[in-house]
Amino acid sequence: MMDRVGSRTAPGAARRVEIVTVMDNYADVFLPSTPAAERRGPPALAPDRPAPDGDPSPLLAEHGLSLWVSITSDEATRSFLFDTGMTEVGVPYNLRRLGLAGRQLDGLILSHGHPDHTAALVPTLRLFDPPPPVYVHPKAFAERYLVRPDGQKLLSNTLSPDTIRSAGAELIPVQGGFDLAPGVALIGDIPMKNEFERGFPAAFVMQDGELAPDLFPDELALVIQLAGRGLIVITGCAHRGVINTVRHARELTPEERVHVVMGGFHLGGATEKIQQTAEELRRLDPTHVIPGHCTGWEATVHLSQALGRAFILSAVGTRFVFDAPGS
Ligand SMILES: [Fe+2]
Ligand SMILES: [Fe+2]
Repeated sequence: MMDRVGSRTAPGAARRVEIVTVMDNYADVFLPSTPAAERRGPPALAPDRPAPDGDPSPLLAEHGLSLWVSITSDEATRSFLFDTGMTEVGVPYNLRRLGLAGRQLDGLILSHGHPDHTAALVPTLRLFDPPPPVYVHPKAFAERYLVRPDGQKLLSNTLSPDTIRSAGAELIPVQGGFDLAPGVALIGDIPMKNEFERGFPAAFVMQDGELAPDLFPDELALVIQLAGRGLIVITGCAHRGVINTVRHARELTPEERVHVVMGGFHLGGATEKIQQTAEELRRLDPTHVIPGHCTGWEATVHLSQALGRAFILSAVGTRFVFDAPGS
């Protein structure tokens, strides 16, 4: 664990980053490919015909997130899976269809303890031999609830350290900054500095036998330095604020430029927050913004209009490729 991540990254920054959207809330087989986003296109097989692994057959979508992230430096290529979706079924199914099951996987990262990011953890670990280590913040195991407008409390965490260890995986606790590889870091303890990013009001956590507002101290973001381009910042739900997250990534690394912001931004229904987030993203001026998962339809539409060509629509099965200049 380090106070400042990325301190040894200058010579080892990534030269290529490939991200495959294994799971997201949206599927669309007719999206056209662009230079940064390769879409799979319509399935080639009839739906009733069994498809071999890796075949371009239909994928599942669900209210969940999972991203396969491969990072190539001069020294090595390392792959990480960021989150495991909302059901036990979706992510393992899609990993097989995408030809990713059983491939080299250097780590499985859980962005936080919500079930739409952790549900398929055990069946996913079983697809890899040996199972990869699991990087997770210790507070992801807290007893937490979503409280509905009618007052009903929904238990929103089923994750435990025993679940991970019984699947044969090593549990690596992550707090603060944590270097996964040169130029690749997890960042946690994200400071909530913005007035407009104050968390998720319906979320509560059990503390000393009582429910208290959940401020998501367990939230981790994946930050990659792409040589000559800038930071790639990947969020799970961004409950502590996507702008707070990107700003914190800039403070913890030697890199000021932001190349990509991708993941769940959790902006559903909050009109003012959507506008302020769009304004701040324009100030940060990333080359690509790829909101997905819990960003929400209204926010996605607004960001597509506010950010112009920087905006890319997230959809299951998309393969994003980001290269250093001259690669
Ligand atoms: Fe989520
Ligand atoms: Fe969440």
